Amino acid sequence: MFSFKVLKKDPKTRARLGLLKTFHNAVETPVFMPVGTLATVKTMSPEELKELGAEIILSNTYHLYLRPGEQLIAKAGGLHKFMNWDRAILTDSGGFQVFSLGPLRTITEEGVTFKSHIDGSTHFMSPEKAVKIQEALGSDIAMVFDECAPYPADYSYAREAMLRTHRWAKRCKEVHQREDQVQFGIIQGSTYADLRVESAKYLTELDFPGYAIGGLSVGEPKPLMYEMLEVLEPHLPADKPRYLMGVGSPDALIEGVIRGIDMFDCVLPTRIARNGTVFTKYGKLVVRNAIFKEDFRPIEEDCQCYTCRNYSRAYIRHLLHNDEVLGIRLTTIHNLHFLINLMREIKKAIREDRLLSFAWEFLQNYEQGKE
Ligand code: GUN
Ligand code: ZN
Repeated sequence: MFSFKVLKKDPKTRARLGLLKTFHNAVETPVFMPVGTLATVKTMSPEELKELGAEIILSNTYHLYLRPGEQLIAKAGGLHKFMNWDRAILTDSGGFQVFSLGPLRTITEEGVTFKSHIDGSTHFMSPEKAVKIQEALGSDIAMVFDECAPYPADYSYAREAMLRTHRWAKRCKEVHQREDQVQFGIIQGSTYADLRVESAKYLTELDFPGYAIGGLSVGEPKPLMYEMLEVLEPHLPADKPRYLMGVGSPDALIEGVIRGIDMFDCVLPTRIARNGTVFTKYGKLVVRNAIFKEDFRPIEEDCQCYTCRNYSRAYIRHLLHNDEVLGIRLTTIHNLHFLINLMREIKKAIREDRLLSFAWEFLQNYEQGKE
């Protein structure tokens, strides 16, 4: 059973509180989904993810198809069983990853021919194949196979990519069969307001159980991304979940929620953790830096995460400096906690009708970076 229900609308913004019921668990929205590209959220065990409060994670069709292969995962009993995660999984279709390969791929109406980033071997991905792979993986939410235009894209190319994405979405819908999986459509249209509206209208007519907004956070200025969200909002069905793909900086999460977004994913918290950078309410901090050598305070004084309850900046810096794996585990725990907790605070603020003042205060602290 899959369902989505809006439980409360914020009176001053477009924000909503919702409940997304998947085939594994119920997810409170707005939600941040940690990224587990290779059937693992790097360095975290499923128990640790649950402890952090993660309710749904994202994994990648492209990577799992190349290695270990979706048939192996199907043989293991599906992605949930393979990785020992019994909560919801959303799989991205591979569209974005394949298109990121640049010169290694060619696009036709049928699909995309590309060379593996692992061994250079040639592969073909089509809408139908992306659906079948995600069915073999057994994710709760599958994404349609789309074309994400780079930024900047000229109008005619952006329109061409959007129309191809529409035809591919239709093909994905036609071949999708798994009853314990739903498929979300993906809106494209680059940074052109009229294309975004056209894309929302077309995909809404196809009637998906949820809608993603793709093609943003690809290098455009943030105000332009926010403008696209504002343009789109009135054209998205109010009773369906809305997912902003690839967005996960703390400021963009808040700005997205205010503009009506329910779901987010991003590699940012886990990726920057691995190069020694952590989020704090006053902005990012490079805990790897020499200035923290004798700093025996936690990353954040009032943070309740396992890392901050037990370890100092000096110790974490020491671990990172020596490439000790515990170092990147501790920074990953803090960063995931930071975003998951931010979503908890956002939900609480919506519940208490004070989202806008919460947002102002958070953004002011985060952007002015005092401390
Ligand atoms: N992840 C971030 N942006 C995109 C997008 O436009 N399409 C897909 N499939 N995944 C994404
Ligand atoms: Zn912490």
